[in-house]
Amino acid sequence: METLTPRQIVNELDKYIIGQTNAKKSVAIALRNRWRRQQVEGSLKNEIMPNNIILIGPTGVGKTEIARRLSKLAKAPFVKVEASKFTEVGYVGRDVESIVRDLMEIAVTMVKAEISVKVEAKAKINVENRILEILLPGYKDIKSDSENLPTWDKMKDRLQKGLLDEKEIEFDLKEDSGKMLQVLAPMGMEDFGSNLKDMFGGMMPKKKKKRKMKISDARKALLEEEVSKLIDHDKAIEEAVRRTENSGIVFLDEIDKIAGGGKGKNGPDVSREGVQRDILPIVEGSTVSTKYGSVKTDHVLFIAAGAFHVAKPSDLIPELQGRFPIRVELDSLSEEDFKRILTEPENALIKQYTALLETESVKLEFSEDAIDEIASLAFIANEQMENIGARRLHTIMSKLLEEILFDTPDRFKGNIMINQEIVKSALAEVIKNPDLSEFIL
Ligand SMILES: Nc1ncnc2c1ncn2[C@@H]1O[C@H](COP(=O)(O)OP(=O)(O)OP(=O)(O)O)[C@@H](O)[C@H]1O
Ligand SMILES: [Mg+2]
Repeated sequence: METLTPRQIVNELDKYIIGQTNAKKSVAIALRNRWRRQQVEGSLKNEIMPNNIILIGPTGVGKTEIARRLSKLAKAPFVKVEASKFTEVGYVGRDVESIVRDLMEIAVTMVKAEISVKVEAKAKINVENRILEILLPGYKDIKSDSENLPTWDKMKDRLQKGLLDEKEIEFDLKEDSGKMLQVLAPMGMEDFGSNLKDMFGGMMPKKKKKRKMKISDARKALLEEEVSKLIDHDKAIEEAVRRTENSGIVFLDEIDKIAGGGKGKNGPDVSREGVQRDILPIVEGSTVSTKYGSVKTDHVLFIAAGAFHVAKPSDLIPELQGRFPIRVELDSLSEEDFKRILTEPENALIKQYTALLETESVKLEFSEDAIDEIASLAFIANEQMENIGARRLHTIMSKLLEEILFDTPDRFKGNIMINQEIVKSALAEVIKNPDLSEFIL
C-alpha cells in the first residue's frame, strides 16, 4: 500500500474527506517520501528526514480525519496524542516517551493480528484436536488402529456439526499474567500496575489453570492460545519494530496549546516550553526503550495539528519549528462543503443513518432540498454559536432524526422521505432560539 503514488493517495483520501486539497497533497508527499527514502541506497538514506507537517485550521474541518485515513491507507502504526496533555498537572516533564511505547504497542498488535489471520485455519484444527483429546482421552495415540479410528472420526464429525457445543469439558488454560498483575495493582495506581506488567509480565511463567466450560466457549478460549502458539513472537516483534521505525505516524493534536505567545511571557509559558523541550528529542530522533527493545524515532512521521488562533507556529521553539518544515492551512468549511460531507464520503452521515434504519426494514431517503436545508442550518448554527465545523452535522442530524430513530419500528415502517419541510419543522424553532440551540445543537 505504501507504493501508492501521491496522486493515488489523494484520490483515496478524497473518498472520506471533502476539500482540503492542500493538506491532502502534503500528507501524500510525506508518505511517498518515506517510501522513496527506503529505496535510497547507502548512507544518504539515513540522512533523509521525514516531512513532518503542521496542519493549521479551525476545529472540525478534517485535520484528525486526514491523518487517521492516511495511516489506514499506509497500514502504518498510528497514535494520536493531545500535546496539551503533557502540560497537565502531574504530567509535567513526564514520560513523553510513552508516545513511542504506545506506537510500538499498536504495531505489535497490528503485526500479530495480521499473522493471526494467516494461522487461524491451522489453529482451529489444533483446537479441534485438543477438544477431541479431552473428549476421548488416550485415543490420540492409538487412533491409527482401525478399531478406534471410527470412534475418533465419529466424535470429530459430531463436534464439527456443533452437536457437542453444549457439552461441558474441563481443561487447562494458560492465564494471562498481565491480567493477574493488573488485579494486584492497587486502585488508582493504574500506571504503576502497567509498569509492573511491563517489567515482570514477560518474566513471570504463565500459570495454567483448570477451567470448565461449554465446548462452544472452549473453542474461543482455546483458539487464542493455539493462535499464539503458532506465532513466532520474536519475529513478530522484529517486524513491529521495523514498522514503527519506518512507517509509524504520530499525530500531535493541539500543538498550538503548547506554543508560547498570546498571554505574555510568564506563567504557563514556562511549562509549555518545557513540554516542547520534552517532545523535541523524539521528534528529532532518539532511541526509546520499550518492553520490546529499543525503538528509534528518526524516521517516524509526526503530523501536528492546531487551530493557532492565538499562538502562531513561529511561537514554537526554533528547534521544533525546524522539525516541522511543512505547514498547511485547512479551509473552513462552506455550506456547499457541508452538503457534500453529508452525502459523498464513504462513511457519510446520511449513509450511516440509512444503513442503521435499513436494519429495521425502513428505507430512509432525503430529498435534495432537505440536504440543502440541513447544510444551511448547520452553517447558520456554526455562525450563531461556536464554529465546530463538520461536527455540527452530527448534532443536527441526530436532532432531526430523533423521532424517527425513537419510533422505528413501532410507528415508522416502509419508506420515509425527508424533505425540506420536515427539516425546517424539526429544526427551525431550535435554530431560532439561541438558548435552546446552545444545548441541543
Ligand atoms: N472536510 C471534511 N470532509 C468530510 N468530513 C469531515 C471534514 N471535516 C470534518 N469532517 C468530519 O467532522 C468530524 C470532525 O473532524 P476532525 O476530527 O477531522 O476535526 P479536526 O479538524 O481534527 O478538529 P479538532 O481541531 O477539533 O481536532 C469527523 O467526523 C469528520 O469525519
Ligand atoms: Mg482533531
